[in-house]
Amino acid sequence: MPKLTGIKKINIAVFISGNGSNFKSLIINSLKKKSKYEVKLVISNKTSAKGLKYARKFKIKKKIINYLNKKDAEKTILVELKKNKIDLVCLAGFMKILSNNLIKKLKCQIVNIHPSLLPKYKGLNTHQRALNNKEKYSGCTVHYVSSKLDSGKIILQKKVKILKNDTCDRLTKRVLRQEHLLYPRALNKILFNL
Ligand code: GRF
Repeated sequence: MPKLTGIKKINIAVFISGNGSNFKSLIINSLKKKSKYEVKLVISNKTSAKGLKYARKFKIKKKIINYLNKKDAEKTILVELKKNKIDLVCLAGFMKILSNNLIKKLKCQIVNIHPSLLPKYKGLNTHQRALNNKEKYSGCTVHYVSSKLDSGKIILQKKVKILKNDTCDRLTKRVLRQEHLLYPRALNKILFNL
């Protein structure tokens, strides 16, 4: 994996498919004086992704990737990342799985945020599954992306208590608030080598 410490400001690309609230939080943190990264590009597999509004608002370059053919889609992704000199890819609710081939070819690090305390509850519907299993805690994890789904090395995690009579909706919102704090912290951990 390429080392990122030492580079003055690194260029990140955020991949989204939906609301993009983590995308927004990464942008806002990137605008802080001490930030070591700049959000250069947003990639979405959907033109209708609500989070694209933040690209307009904060004047961030966006690229919509047509996923009808995965090979072609990933070729375009490679070209875009190169063109924009991206040092780090941040997946944030991107609903497509990157192929092993793409992961190998990418010359930059790739990180993801997942709404569970990994290695528990990989995949989808994490909060509902945690509630069904009467877990005491849920939470979120930022981790490196490897060839296995939601399985790369963990960078940071945050626990969130499951309350009595919690609903999936309420828990999702509480965890999401923590995600918005955790993702920028995880990037700082990587970039400042804290
Ligand atoms: C987050 O819960 C993230 O952990 C998961 O997808 C959701 C994306 O939310 N991978 P948003 O689009 O950032 O609001």
